[in-house]
Amino acid sequence: MAGQIPQRFIDDLLARVDVVEVVGERVKLKKAGRNHSGLCPFHQEKSPSFTVSADKQFYHCFGCGAHGNALRFLMEYDKLRFPEAVEQLASRMGMEVPREGADDPRAQAREKKRKEGVNLLEMSASYFRERLKMPEGKAAREYLEGRGLSDEVRETFGIGYAPAQWEALKRHLGSQGVDESVQIEYGLLVHHEDSGRSYDRFRDRVVFPIRDIRGRTLGFGGRVMGDAKPKYLNSPETPVFHKGRELYGLYEARQANHRLERLLIVEGYMDVVALAQFGIRNAVATLGTATTADHLRRLFRLVSEVVFCFDGDKAGRQAAARALETVLPEMIDGRQARFLFLPEGEDPDSLVRKEGTEAFEDRVTCASPLSEFLFEHAAQGRDLAQLESRERYASQVLAAIEKLPQGVLKSLMLTELSRRTGVEQSRFEALLAPAPEDNDVAPVDEFFEPVVEDGEPAPRPRRSGGALGLMARTLQLLVHEPRLVERLPESLDWCGGQDEDARLCREVITLLRAGGYSSAQVLLMHFHGSEDGERLAALARRELLIPVAARAAELDGLVSYFQRASQTPSRQEEIDALLRRQQSGERLSSEERGRLMELLAAGR
Ligand code: UTP
Ligand code: MN
Repeated sequence: MAGQIPQRFIDDLLARVDVVEVVGERVKLKKAGRNHSGLCPFHQEKSPSFTVSADKQFYHCFGCGAHGNALRFLMEYDKLRFPEAVEQLASRMGMEVPREGADDPRAQAREKKRKEGVNLLEMSASYFRERLKMPEGKAAREYLEGRGLSDEVRETFGIGYAPAQWEALKRHLGSQGVDESVQIEYGLLVHHEDSGRSYDRFRDRVVFPIRDIRGRTLGFGGRVMGDAKPKYLNSPETPVFHKGRELYGLYEARQANHRLERLLIVEGYMDVVALAQFGIRNAVATLGTATTADHLRRLFRLVSEVVFCFDGDKAGRQAAARALETVLPEMIDGRQARFLFLPEGEDPDSLVRKEGTEAFEDRVTCASPLSEFLFEHAAQGRDLAQLESRERYASQVLAAIEKLPQGVLKSLMLTELSRRTGVEQSRFEALLAPAPEDNDVAPVDEFFEPVVEDGEPAPRPRRSGGALGLMARTLQLLVHEPRLVERLPESLDWCGGQDEDARLCREVITLLRAGGYSSAQVLLMHFHGSEDGERLAALARRELLIPVAARAAELDGLVSYFQRASQTPSRQEEIDALLRRQQSGERLSSEERGRLMELLAAGR
């Protein structure tokens, strides 16, 4: 594993790059006085509130509060992990990124191999693309045309053709000096142990390159043009290709729109390209596997909403139930998941052709939210007029709710369950396992993740107590986006609690208001050296995991949740106090009696 990047190198790097240049390559900027300004790439806006300062080497958006230096910009805009962003900046400056302890020859060998592999896959992809244009690719071209794909979509997705020969690619790569063993390792050749022979894996197939988010080819999927089996053939697991992690079409969706808010998850390659043909450019497909938690985490780093598409048949329902299980633990506040069921016998490809873009988009707009699907799914096949059925229904829903991370959604789901079953919410709450430990904040090195062999970040280990409490989450949002303080209500009643996080939250808000600070760094400086400072720094290092555009809405949701929560007990306390006095024989004044009636009436 590659070692950590030394801090002095990062400082040196930042001193050399120009944030205006880095941002300017991706966002149209205009000089405005000492600064540059443009339309913010992190939220939708019509007039520019995004500024980049050459003096301070910072960018800042007055609209959504996005801010940071060149590294932060690359991480947010290109969705890179920290080490990847450093690599990218360093390579443009012609600097080699040093790694602590990177003299390890094994790490170097692995890195060399990774580069070799990616190169080899790139060479293969362009070979397949070339073949499609040749006379031998005629049948494949006709096939694609027959399926309604334009040249433009074909090119966008880099679709190619693998010739109907046993050693076409093998010879081509061999002539470029690529070792046979490497071709086997990266899944391009099939190797027979017994005979010792190896030959092209993809033959006489239309080939879809599967790319990572930066556009590097990781593997391929190949479709036969006739009825032969298997219909699709995929690259096997290789050092860079892992089916349970990659999503077909993600790179292309990002290229089509850098400010994606929603992604559709469909089943097949052809669904992705057919939707793109019809102008729906935000679909991705799993590669013949069910959606995994890894897939979802990847998607939720880019967008706040995913919509699963399923067939309307029994298999589709089952797949949806599986997807529900997988998505529940990922539903931290600010994220949304919805479920779309297509008419029986249709897939997105066939449906969009039949109905057209608008009708398909309407279906997406009307897809069931997770909560609705969850209740519906649990009710299926049950007669809820029956007590026993209702009990089983409630247990099933409760088991699902239990999987949700702490948050507003979880609370709302409990309320809804109580409404639907007529059972008091507190009874359900008592049945839930105790909430995980709140104060668990990941250690520093988790944020400077080592780059694994294929250059992608290692999957984040799932920490049992990893969920933040709601107040900690509020703090975390404020630390990442101090500007959001402007949205908060004047009164701080909602965070009047006695716990540490609530106290710190009040302090942070007061400070932000007094100082008009908009940068996390300044905030952290203020608390530096204290326990609070450490708490805040830990929260700052922890990723928010939701896109910039969804952050304000999440904060609003949290605050209104706290407002409700802070009102309920105080009302109850007041009632209790009055009742206690009345029961002890004390006579309440007429105002007090009026107040008691009012309080009791308000509670119904
Ligand atoms: P489908 O059989 O639903 O195919 O497989 P499709 O996407 O509708 O394809 P067309 O329209 O017939 O061309 C859905 C996905 O399942 C995987 C592929 O990823 C495919 O896109 N699959 C399917 C395989 O890996 N192997 C197969 O033999 C079939
Ligand atoms: Mn299909």
